[in-house]
Amino acid sequence: MNKTIVSASILSADFAEFGKSIAEIDASGATWLHLDVMDGSFVSNLTFGPALFRSLRSRTKLYFDAHLMIVNPENHIKEFAEAGANGITFHYEAHDDPIKLLKEIRSMGISPGISIKPETPIEVLQEILSHVDLVLVMTVPPGYGGQTLIPECLEKVKKLAEIREKAGLSFRIAVDGGINEKTVPLAIEAGADVLVMGYAFFGSNDKKGLVSRIQS
Ligand code: DX5
Ligand code: ZN
Repeated sequence: MNKTIVSASILSADFAEFGKSIAEIDASGATWLHLDVMDGSFVSNLTFGPALFRSLRSRTKLYFDAHLMIVNPENHIKEFAEAGANGITFHYEAHDDPIKLLKEIRSMGISPGISIKPETPIEVLQEILSHVDLVLVMTVPPGYGGQTLIPECLEKVKKLAEIREKAGLSFRIAVDGGINEKTVPLAIEAGADVLVMGYAFFGSNDKKGLVSRIQS
């Protein structure tokens, strides 16, 4: 059994102190940095683009886990790849030929991922699963940090873990939204391998303790 991965979401960091936040994540023992890219169109919120990836890339060896909540993701993949993303996840709901785009991402040497909103059933992913390294199951409506996890979404994680096992596939399952010390055990129990944490991570006074409790 692999260690659970903590992907710290800088959406909940102080936007004037990204450099400092990266150092905090490094010191906590978390190995992934979750970067939420929002365009004000796929979701109502706006965040940042590849420029931030480029600036942070030289500061850390953390795995850059890009979560694109944008329309027309195909127009931006190359830029995020060149800016230092290690994994790029786009939304199933944002593209009509996901397999083509997943292949394109892989051909750039980047690990491809697909994400689904809470209302999207996992069945839509059937044909796609053999092309992904990561399925990111949104456990809150995308757009904002600090929301409460929707328990029904963990049922999707369970189903997905079963499908993965039956099909002999090895993609990782990530959960994103409302993950905190209370919901971590439920997410792991459901089958999640990657826990995205924004609010709970940056709100913690003992980030190292938090990460090590999750990893054990
Ligand atoms: C929300 C983002 C999340 C967000 C999670 O649309 O995709 O990555 O940072 O935040 P928390 O952990 O605060 O729910
Ligand atoms: Zn996210």
